[in-house]
Amino acid sequence: MKNNKIRTRRLLFLAAALLAAGFVPSLRAADDSNGTSPNFLAGGEPPPPPAEKRAEDLLSQMTPDEKMAYIGGTNNFYIRAIPRLNLPAIKMSDGPMAARNDGPTTAYPAGIALAATWDTNMAREIGEALGRDCRSRGVNILLGPAVNIYRSPLCGRNFEYMGEDPFLAATLVAPEIKGIQSQGVLATIKHFACNNEEWDRNRISSEVDERTLEEIYFPAFKAAVQDGGVGCVMTSYNLLNGVHCAENDYLMNQVLRKDWGFNGFVMSDWSAVHNGLLALNGGLDLEMPRGTYMNRATMTKALANGQLKQAVIDDKVRHILRTIIAAGFLDRPQALDTIPRNDPDNARVALEGAREAIVLLKNYRHALPLERKSIKSIAVVGPNAARQVYCGGGSAFPRVFEYVSIRDGIAREAGSGIKVFTSTNLTESVALAKQVDAVVVCAGFNASLESEGKDRPFDLPAGQSNLIHAVAAVNHRTIVVISSGGGVAWAGWLDKTPAVIEAWYPGQFVGQAVAEVLFGDVNPSGRLPATFEKKFEDNPSAPYYHLSANNKTPYTEGIFVGYRGYDAKEVEPEFCFGHGLSYTEFKYGKPLVSPAEIPPDGEATVSLEVKNTGNRAGDEVVQLYVHDVKSSVPQPPKELKGFLRVVLDPGETKTVKLTLTAEQLAFWDVKTRGFVVEPGAYELLVGSSSRDIRGKAKLEVVAAK
Ligand code: BGC
Repeated sequence: MKNNKIRTRRLLFLAAALLAAGFVPSLRAADDSNGTSPNFLAGGEPPPPPAEKRAEDLLSQMTPDEKMAYIGGTNNFYIRAIPRLNLPAIKMSDGPMAARNDGPTTAYPAGIALAATWDTNMAREIGEALGRDCRSRGVNILLGPAVNIYRSPLCGRNFEYMGEDPFLAATLVAPEIKGIQSQGVLATIKHFACNNEEWDRNRISSEVDERTLEEIYFPAFKAAVQDGGVGCVMTSYNLLNGVHCAENDYLMNQVLRKDWGFNGFVMSDWSAVHNGLLALNGGLDLEMPRGTYMNRATMTKALANGQLKQAVIDDKVRHILRTIIAAGFLDRPQALDTIPRNDPDNARVALEGAREAIVLLKNYRHALPLERKSIKSIAVVGPNAARQVYCGGGSAFPRVFEYVSIRDGIAREAGSGIKVFTSTNLTESVALAKQVDAVVVCAGFNASLESEGKDRPFDLPAGQSNLIHAVAAVNHRTIVVISSGGGVAWAGWLDKTPAVIEAWYPGQFVGQAVAEVLFGDVNPSGRLPATFEKKFEDNPSAPYYHLSANNKTPYTEGIFVGYRGYDAKEVEPEFCFGHGLSYTEFKYGKPLVSPAEIPPDGEATVSLEVKNTGNRAGDEVVQLYVHDVKSSVPQPPKELKGFLRVVLDPGETKTVKLTLTAEQLAFWDVKTRGFVVEPGAYELLVGSSSRDIRGKAKLEVVAAK
């Protein structure tokens, strides 16, 4: 089997060769005229366009001091201006799901909620809306999206990220970046790499083997670079295999630049550099928020004693200049006053995103939707009823112009025929629950309990489980709405309630979207982008998470992250990856593969009919998983390799087509440092979730003659 192994090295070497030859893929200036200029940092053809030459001209005019100053930020969120050379200050803003630095703004679904939409069009729309918000505020660089893999439910920043699956995150991040950059704003993919916990984040070394990096933790970053054409990369606080990411030669010089052909610039996370010389030689282009370590004193000394070359400094300046020139920042004002800061079009996107993100986890005997005919009174109880649960905490949290709490959303959506009562007090809630037709318990976390800078507990915050118990004991129509960035402890209360909704942090319209789902005005269509375990110990990373001998945190589970691990160990999750209920039902036809045999660089199309057999319109997310029947390396029982969200009217049938390239069947071969597609049989599993497989087909990869 090893003899007939076919190696398909990706475009890496071509890209590396082109770069080595001084070729910079199509650095075109953003076209402002229609706001839809193409992705300006990816792909493209020679000859080198003017951005490159203009960068060289500017570089040649800069003094050594100016160059040294240029690669350290200023004023917290800026690249400094050099008025002498007509170089404007470049303004940045957090990120990732709002342009949050300049007063109130529009809050879109958090990363995990966007991932729950499984909707590439939504990712693009949210990207465009973020780009417009940036332009209305004169922001050049948005500090987002963020795509670290959800490894454990405890990571305090899971809510910012796009779930546990590299293919899902990679597929959604590229259109989001293209959307942002289409508006003449640079996106920043963060945090490179392996920021999968917040606990002790500046001192922890994520210890990850190369195959796991390439197959699990890198693909979304790689897609951001190669498919999204992202302009900027931000490194993470943690160390990777013993080296701080902002000083990590392997990550920045090898993987980003040589392997992936990245030609934008790399910035540090805020105060994440610890050693200036290592950062300088390790490939960091810009230290943020200022040049604390990559400073004049360090550089002058290192230049004098030969530890640093002037060419290395020049390269950093060059990377920044050509990226900002290509983005058009030298040629037009960044602020566009034709776009309102509180843009109704963007608010509409935020609302649509929230509607698509919400996941109906459980719906026993059709407890939902609430029928306005029969429900005349509702109690909305629990700590999150009136709270701002649109975003988790930390640098991502924005102030908003407009917010709809779950309580207010339910009150509005209920209409005049239904009385709505609220309480956050246990005794009062139980008393109310006895009198009303339905209870909605608003539970879960919030921005102070689930936040950047710390990890969170698995258990629901104190008192919530008791509250659910007490209320459900007196009202059989008790519905629980969870606000969280991931799985929580379900044990002890889940079986007491007939219906549960995962709301995530879906942006400023959380209450409206939740209420619309509760009343059936919106048919729920979100799908889990992460596995929700029955108990914390079931999570594949649980034995190693927060285990830190000498500040090293081992990723011993390797590639068996999330459903890959549950499937391999045959552990039943509470709610599996890809799960999400609807108020209608979908019937799947038999999947057909064409062609059924492909060469190692070929592709096949999987097609099947999907019918809405219920009496409500609804969206189904058709998911394609691949099982490598016989592999020379350990493989998970299945991996997501395709998906499509389809909109179906009652009774309607659509043909769904999913493309699968042989390249997607590859694994990372450590011996050759490349991806390998092995000839042989692959089983294709099409379903409504990772554990609700509706049809199977076979695909054969045949060795090239
Ligand atoms: C966060 C980054 C953020 C930066 C600037 C850091 O604490 O990790 O994600 O972009 O602050 O606010």
